[in-house]
Amino acid sequence: MNKVEISPSIISCDLRRLEEQIKECELAGAESFHLDVMDGHFVDNITMGPDIISAVRKSTNLRLDAHLMIERPDKYYTSFLNAGCDVIFVHYEAPIEVNGLINKFESENIRYGIVINPDTDISKVYKFLGTAEILLIMSVYPGFSGQKFIESSLDKVKKARKFIDDNNYKTKIEIDGGINNETGAAAVKAGADILVSASYIFNGNINERIKILKNL
Ligand code: DX5
Ligand code: ZN
Repeated sequence: MNKVEISPSIISCDLRRLEEQIKECELAGAESFHLDVMDGHFVDNITMGPDIISAVRKSTNLRLDAHLMIERPDKYYTSFLNAGCDVIFVHYEAPIEVNGLINKFESENIRYGIVINPDTDISKVYKFLGTAEILLIMSVYPGFSGQKFIESSLDKVKKARKFIDDNNYKTKIEIDGGINNETGAAAVKAGADILVSASYIFNGNINERIKILKNL
């Protein structure tokens, strides 16, 4: 079995030491970085925009994933591509014509991920799984780091794993929210390929915590 990929979310890093902590994550074996973009409308919090992400881009060559928790991903995704993001993540629940936006991504060969909230049925996003690079299953309600893992997310991971394997799709399954050594192990067992983690990694010894997650 392939080792799980680790995608640190810099939402919990020490912004004064952004570059240093990015390097520390890389050295520990992180495969990508997760950028939590919140606009204060789609979720009840405001975080980073393209400028901070440009700074991240200058500090690493790893894949940058833009998790857009914003009302208008259709309006702003190009700013995030221009800032250096590699994969644009759109919520299935975004109040826009999501199908139309995904069609656009497909026709323009824009790498994308589809994100699903805890209360949305997993079958709703099956139609994207042929072309989405990553399916991101939220295991907390989006908005804040440091929340408790919602156990029912594991069942979604299992269902998605079966659907993807049955159809021979290449889409990776990623899980985001409340990931630590225990919940991470359960998610990997259920079939997750990528673990996002913010508080578990950055509130401890970065190197140790990433290595623990990588070896679950
Ligand atoms: C939640 C974000 C997550 C979150 C992860 O809205 O999408 O990426 O910050 O934080 P932890 O790992 O602390 O739950
Ligand atoms: Zn996220």
